[in-house]
Amino acid sequence: MAPHNDSTEVVEERATTMVADAENKPISTIVIIIAMQTEALPLVTKFQLSEDHDSLFPKGVPWVRYYGVYKDLNLNVIWPGKDPLLGVDSVGTISASLVTYASIQALKPDLIINAGTAGGFKAKETCIGDVYLASDVAFHDRRIPIPVFDQYGIGARKTFSTPNLLKELNLKIGKLSTGDSLDMSPQDEASIIANDAAVKDMEGAAVAYVADLLSVPVIFVKAVTDIVDGDKPTAEEFLQNLVAVTTALDQAVTRVLDFISGKCVSEL
Ligand code: ADE
Repeated sequence: MAPHNDSTEVVEERATTMVADAENKPISTIVIIIAMQTEALPLVTKFQLSEDHDSLFPKGVPWVRYYGVYKDLNLNVIWPGKDPLLGVDSVGTISASLVTYASIQALKPDLIINAGTAGGFKAKETCIGDVYLASDVAFHDRRIPIPVFDQYGIGARKTFSTPNLLKELNLKIGKLSTGDSLDMSPQDEASIIANDAAVKDMEGAAVAYVADLLSVPVIFVKAVTDIVDGDKPTAEEFLQNLVAVTTALDQAVTRVLDFISGKCVSEL
């Protein structure tokens, strides 16, 4: 074989060994990406996390890291913070991608958890307060009607498989569809149906894209605040249920952390 192929093989072998090593050592550092302050603060309080005032992130960005130790886990709750101009939570795919990238670079986590609220579909028998683990993620608002670019736009991918976690926690499992709008246009609806989604959020597929690029396993814990194909206006129903559903989210994330503690990624 030519020398070039030899060295490629060695590099590939080393990369495979590194992945196997990472999968077989107990999980130590966890990054929890949460878009809204209302969703993040109950976890910060519960785990007595501290705000990092000497930020790992570039000067001037609104991104906030809360950190601390729970059991044997180094927890990092990352909240993209408030929009510098408008003062509202920096929700959506752009901020989610940026903080995921920056957190991986700075903290080299063993695992990412993207936790948050989501809209659910009664067509999929989803109810307010249900907590889902996402089996798959995809985008529903990136339409590029050119062969292959269409698939790139949708960006469908299976999530990191956690059969033991799913069995133990008895959470619902379903596909997650991501877009940058809280409401749902008819075009979005057609894409969400094509994605076969049970829940819809504004960050998941973006977090998945970045985590996949950098080979970090990620799981998605999403609690349902509103029924998108129900009778109530989405924004009203979302705001009405946000605080109560956040309690269900907080409990689910705690159970996930309790399960993860002491385990390797390959045991999830
Ligand atoms: N988060 C909570 N409800 C949502 C919805 N309907 N769409 C997107 N993200 C959400």
